[in-house]
Amino acid sequence: MKRTKIKDILQKGETGTKVIAKGWVRTKRGSKNINFIALNDGSTIHNLQVVAEVSNFDEAVLREINTGAAVSVAGTLAESAGSGQNFELIAETIEILGKVDSEKFPIQPKKHSLEFLRENAHMRFRTNTFGAIFRIKHAMSFAIHKYFNDKGFYYLQTPIITASDAEGAGQTFRVSVLDTKNPPLTEEGDVDFTQDFFGRPTNLTVSGQLEGELGATALGEIYTFGPTFRAENSNTARHLAEFWMIEPEMAFYDLDDNMNLAEEFLKSLIKYAIDNCMDDLQFLANRLTEEEKQKPADQHSMGLIEKLQFVLSKNFVRITYTEAIDILKNSNPYKKKKFQFPVDWGIDLQSEHERYLVEQHFKCPVILTNYPKDIKAFYMKQNNDGKTVAAMDVLFPQIGEIIGGSQREENLEKLETRMQEMNIPMEEMWWYLDTRRFGSVVHSGFGLGFERLMLFVTGMSNIRDVIAFPRTPKNAEF
Ligand code: 4AD
Ligand code: MG
Repeated sequence: MKRTKIKDILQKGETGTKVIAKGWVRTKRGSKNINFIALNDGSTIHNLQVVAEVSNFDEAVLREINTGAAVSVAGTLAESAGSGQNFELIAETIEILGKVDSEKFPIQPKKHSLEFLRENAHMRFRTNTFGAIFRIKHAMSFAIHKYFNDKGFYYLQTPIITASDAEGAGQTFRVSVLDTKNPPLTEEGDVDFTQDFFGRPTNLTVSGQLEGELGATALGEIYTFGPTFRAENSNTARHLAEFWMIEPEMAFYDLDDNMNLAEEFLKSLIKYAIDNCMDDLQFLANRLTEEEKQKPADQHSMGLIEKLQFVLSKNFVRITYTEAIDILKNSNPYKKKKFQFPVDWGIDLQSEHERYLVEQHFKCPVILTNYPKDIKAFYMKQNNDGKTVAAMDVLFPQIGEIIGGSQREENLEKLETRMQEMNIPMEEMWWYLDTRRFGSVVHSGFGLGFERLMLFVTGMSNIRDVIAFPRTPKNAEF
C-alpha cells in the first residue's frame, strides 16, 4: 500500500479505510494502556493523531517513538473522539524509520525562542511556526508566477554573476578565483583582474533590472525572480545580505501605470494568501496574538488576518516625497524630537519616517513618488523640475519600504549626462545604453523584496525568520 499524505487523510479520509501515514513524531502522550502520537509530515500544519494500544506493540518499538523520530504507521481511520480533528489513525503496525536521541534533539515539545530556532535553523522546519512560514512562502512564490503568467509577462532569468553594479551603490560581493594570498598584480601594483576567471572584476548581482530592461524593450513585459546580494553592513530586522527579489519591467508603462501594477500585484498576492493559506495564517495569527499579550494594551496592533484584509480594502495613498517631508515636519514626533534621524528635503527617509506616514498619519499603505534625484539611482526618469526623479517607493505598515521602483530615463543624452555626474562607468554599460540608441521607449519597473513581503504576510518581525538560511553580517551558517 502507498503512503497517504496527512493533509489528504484529514481532508478526504473515510472512516474504516486502511492507510499508511509517514512523518515525524511531534509528541507522544498516554497511559499504561494507550499511547497517542501526534504525527506531522509537513503537508499541513495539522497533526494526525495516531492511537496505539500498548498491548498490540513491542515495548521496544513504543519506547523509540520520541519527539523527532520518523515513523511509518499503518492502520485504520476512525472518527476522532477528540476535538478539532475529523480522523485519527488506529495503529496496526508501526515501523521506526529514523530514531532520535531525545536528549540531543534540539526541538523539544515546548515553546522555543525565535533566537534559539535561528541557531538551529537546520531543524526549525520541524516546528509549527516555520512549517507555516515556508508553506506560505511556497504559495506566495507560486502566486507571483501565476500573477505574471496570467497577465502575459515573461519570466526572464537575469545573471547572478555580473560585472555591473545596477544600483550604483558599491555594495557588491566580489566573485573571483584569484589566489587571495598572492594575487597577480599589474605594473601599478593593483590586482590584475584580467587574469581572473572572467578576465575582469565581477560580483554577485544586486538587481536584475538592467538586464530586465533589455528583455522588456523587446518582449514587452518581463519579470525576474531570483536571488540578489548586497554587502551592506546593516544588521537590522529588515535587511539580508542575500535576499530574493521580484522585478517586473514593462515597456510603454509610465510612473502611474507602474504604481497601478505594484498595487494590484501586492493585493493579488495578499488575496492569494487569504484564499489558499488560511490554516497556516490562522496559526501565525494566534501566535501573534499571544505575543501581543506580553505588550501593554495601548501597543496592541491589528490581528494578522484583519491586517491583510485591511490592506486589501484600501486604496494606497499616493503622495510625493516633497509632500511627505511637509507632513513629517508638521508631525508630533518631529516637533517633540522623537525621530532619531533628521527630516529635511533631500535626505533619504528612514524607516521610522516611513512607518510614521503609514502607521500613524495615513493608517494605510503609501506610495511615495518623485524623490530628490541625488538619493536615487542613475537610471530613473528625470523630472522637468531638474531636482526630482520619477521614483516610487511603496511603504507598508510594520515593514516600511516593500517595493522600490521608477519610470526609467529613456532619453540617451539625459541618461549619459546623469551617468557622468554620478561616475557610472559608461563604456562598460554600452549594452544598456543601446536600448536608448535603438528604438527607445518609455518604460518602468520595480523590485519587490520577497522576504519583506513575507514579513508582512506572516506577521513575523525579523527577516531572518522568513528565509530558510539567512545570510547577514558575520553569519553564513548552514
Ligand atoms: O529599492 P531597491 O534597492 O530597488 C532595486 O534594486 C531596483 N533595481 C528595483 C527595480 O526597480 N527593478 O530594492 C527593491 C526592494 C526593496 O524595496 C526591498 O523590499 C528589497 O528590495 N530589499 C531588501 N530586502 C532585504 N534585504 C535587503 N538588504 C534589501 N534591500 C532591498
Ligand atoms: Mg529602495
